[in-house]
This record gives sequence, structure tokens and C-alpha cells, in this order.
Amino acid sequence: MALDPNREDFVIGVIGTGAMGRGIMQVAAQGGMRVVAYDEKAGAAESAVQEIRRALNGLVEKGRLEKNEADAAVARITIAEGIPQVAAAADVIIEAIIERLDVKQNLFETLDDLTKEDCILASNTSSLPVTAIAARCKRPERVAGMHFFNPVPLMKLVEVVPGLKTSPWVTEALTVIARRMTRVPVVCKDSPGFIVNHIGRAYVPEAARIVAEGIAEPADVDRIMTEAVGMRMGPFTLLDLIGADVSVSVMESLWNQFYCEPMYAPHPILKARVSGGLYGRKTGAGWYAYEDGKRVEPPRPELPTARPSSVWVSPRHPGESAKAIALLQRLGATIEDGDRPSPNALCIVTPTSGDCASEIVQQELDPKRTVALDTSFNFEKHRTVMVPPGIDPAVRDAAHGLFGSDGAGVSVINDSPGFVAPRIVAHIINIGCQIAQQKIASPADIDLGAKLGLSYPFGPLEWGDQLGASWVLEILEELESFYNEPRYRPSPWLKRRAWLNLPLATPDGRG
Ligand code: NAI
Repeated sequence: MALDPNREDFVIGVIGTGAMGRGIMQVAAQGGMRVVAYDEKAGAAESAVQEIRRALNGLVEKGRLEKNEADAAVARITIAEGIPQVAAAADVIIEAIIERLDVKQNLFETLDDLTKEDCILASNTSSLPVTAIAARCKRPERVAGMHFFNPVPLMKLVEVVPGLKTSPWVTEALTVIARRMTRVPVVCKDSPGFIVNHIGRAYVPEAARIVAEGIAEPADVDRIMTEAVGMRMGPFTLLDLIGADVSVSVMESLWNQFYCEPMYAPHPILKARVSGGLYGRKTGAGWYAYEDGKRVEPPRPELPTARPSSVWVSPRHPGESAKAIALLQRLGATIEDGDRPSPNALCIVTPTSGDCASEIVQQELDPKRTVALDTSFNFEKHRTVMVPPGIDPAVRDAAHGLFGSDGAGVSVINDSPGFVAPRIVAHIINIGCQIAQQKIASPADIDLGAKLGLSYPFGPLEWGDQLGASWVLEILEELESFYNEPRYRPSPWLKRRAWLNLPLATPDGRG
């Protein structure tokens, strides 16, 4: 390795001291490295240092940092008067300027001429190809991506992205430096969206399709994904927080970079909201309404008072029907045990492999009095009840009343292959598998990326193993054949591991 990234007097140069550059300066200084920072806007670097001082003092007040450590970290930062000063001092320069390829290329070309030979040039770009940023450098082998997340001090993940010409020692050095900054580095190929923004193409777009198809209301999708699945934020809450303007442009950019790959397609209903200025929190109106900056919670649907006189649970999926029966017993329902339902019973089916309620009903049951219960995820707090076309509204309300009778939330949704939760989670897992298949990152780094970069409860591959790769494959195959769309085609990575009953982290035969 040409450069020793463990050297004690290591110097990090930071160019661009806005939201990201400031955070990078802070974690580098807290990691014991010296920092030389420059911003072209007069006073910007000084105010970044003030902000860092304020943030560190806040940690001292909370007892999370010693006063002398905070002072020492701030003392390690110097402000440069120009780029040559940064170039002369730094061992690694991290660029966090405006997200424009031509401007970044100019800067890297300048840095390439001014810096010592083994100085690493890193870009914090979130959407531009690292290889393109390095294209005008004479020594592109020392250029790489070092993608931090916002806010940097709180988000531990760093994606280290070697371009096509980057030398291995540069990637290795950047992972060491990331660790010195107390970050968790993951390594990924120079590919659109790297790891995290690539995985993120599943959640919101699939939720948007579900809403666009009239399957469920946005608030229902949010409740299902948080309360049953354990996501930290529902997709529509997330959209409102980030802003539809920003989210849709990231979606479109990624989709275009993958040459309109249907798996990543955004949905037109999202674009329409951007045109209408319904960005979310920042415009005071999005999928939710806001008053004085606070979200107005939509009222939960009132619980119907009606209850079914008796229920009959289809034995078609024994494991799932047993879960439904255990729940119904706790709810005090009268459960029939005959082979067929009595004429007035509420019939409950438990599709587990992506079948619609209608698909099961057509074979053996009466659509007027059959509902489907999602037993795939935790249904203690929230339950999804799916109804086929033709359901008797009184039966639907009685089922709703019964499933909510212990205070749990209930979402009554229209028929969908894979309800709401299984189809969204299967889509996330499938995209994680695609990333593994394309060797963009290792299975372990894909999982870390989802957990630390997106706050998902599990990484896509470990989640697939928990739920069962064969189950995920069945859901996707059902979605693919139902909609006849390549969007849902299962990744080769998933198919082979499901067929062979192998963990999803298993590498390909040749590695
Ligand atoms: P920002 O607008 O807060 O800060 C950019 C700073 O760079 C400004 O202070 C500006 O004066 C300075 N600057 C612009 N051109 C310059 C130049 N040629 N030389 C020196 N200084 C220059 O932007 P932010 O959000 O910090 O983003 C910076 C980079 O980080 C972008 O590439 C962005 O895509 C990336 N990024 C942003 C994330 C975010 O959530 N904001 C997350 C991850 C990456």
C-alpha cells in the first residue's frame, strides 16, 4: 500500500463544507485526524467549524463526550484559503461540493495536478459515476468514491466505491480511514445508486403501485409496514419527509441509469404529486396533511360493531391456518371444525404464496363471505384482511370487527397477489439479490447497507433467509405471472439458492 492510512499525523482535506462536508470534518477530527477544509463561499468553512463546535459541545452537555476531547477535535481543524493549501497538506481529500459532473471533474483535474502522488482523491457523490469523475485525471487509480450519509455524525455507514481504474490499495486505505472516523465501511462497485440507493428502489415505488391500483390507502400501507413488518417508517411517511421532488428525481435518475429496468420503475402517481407541489412536509401537504409543521394524523377507520356468528378457516395452508385459528380462539370466535363451512360462516383463507383471495375463492368458496388474512408477518398489533370483489359488505364489516376486537389495528384491503407486506418485502429481497448477482457488493455489505443506510430491520439477504428463499420466490413468481410484468421476475441469485435450499449469502460457484 502506497500510503499508510494508520499514520497518526494523517491529514484529511475536505472541499465543500456544506451539510455533508461539515459532518465529514467532524467525524474525521473526532477520529483523531487533522482536517484542512476549504469552501469557495466566503465564510462557509468558518461557519462549518462553528457548527461542529456547537454539535460537540452539545455532546459534552449530554455527557457523551469529555470537554477536552471536544476541544481537541475542534483544534485539529484548520481552514484553508484555497485549494492549493488543501492539496499541499492532505493525505486524502474528500470532496463534498455541488453534485455536478462537470464541476467535480474540474476540481479533480486540478487536484490531480496539485497533490502529492499518493494522495487519495475521494468524492462524496451520491449519484454520479466515480469513474466519470476521475476521467480527466492523469492518475485515476487514486480516485474513489467515499459516500457518507446525512447527517454524517449519526449515520455510521460509508460506501467506499472504487471506480473502474481505482487501485486496490486506495479502496483498502479508504476503508481503514472510514473506520478511524468510527464509520462502518462497505465496499461496492461503481454502479448507479451504489448499494443503499439501489436497494431503496424497492420500497416506495412498490408501495406507490399498491396505492395506485386501489389496493390500500397510503396510511394503511404505512401502518402495515411499520406495525406488522417492523420498518422504522412507512413508505408514504418517508416520501413526505424526504419530499416527493427529491425522491422522484432520485427514482427517475436510477431508473434511467439502468436503462429503464422495470424492477426500478417509479410510478406516475408520484410524478403527478410533484407537478402539483404536494412534496410533503416542506410544502405542508403531501400524502398527509400538516398544520404548523405537524402531521395531522388521519383518523383510524371506526371498528364495526358486527361480528360473524361463526368462522371457518380453510385448511389449504395448514401452518398458516393454524396461526389464524390460534388468533381467532384468542378473539373468542366460534370456530367451525367441519370439512366445509356452514351456510352462514365467515370463511377465512390464509394465502401464503402470493395467491389472491379471488384465486382461492374461485376454486372452492363463496366470494360473498370469504376474506383472506395475512399471516406472514407479526399480526399482534396490526392485521391485514384482504377482500375479493363481490364480498358482501356486511360480512366484510363483521370480519373487520372481529379482527380488531382486541384493539389491534386492521387494514381492510382489496385483492392483491401477496397482500401489501409480502409483496413489498419480496421486492426488497429480490433487488438485494440482484445486487449480489451483479457482484456490486458482498452479501454481508448489502445487508449492512440496508440496515445502517436505510434503517431496515434486516438486510435483504438475511431477511430472505428468515422468511424462506422458496417463499420469496413463490411470491415473486405469482406476482410475475399475475401481472405478466418483468418487474417481478425473480433474480437468478434468489432462484438458484431457493432451488438448492442454500442461504442467500452463499457465493456463486466461481465466487
Ligand atoms: P451543500 O449545498 O450543503 O454544500 C456544498 C458546499 O460546497 C457549499 O458550501 C458550496 O459553497 C461548496 N462548493 C460548491 N462548489 C464548490 C467548489 N467548486 N469548490 C469549493 N466549494 C464548493 O451540499 P451537500 O448536501 O453537503 O452535498 C455535497 C455533496 O454530497 C454532493 O455531491 C451531494 O450529492 C453529496 N451527498 C449529499 C447528501 C445529502 O443528503 N445532502 C448525502 C450524501 C451525499
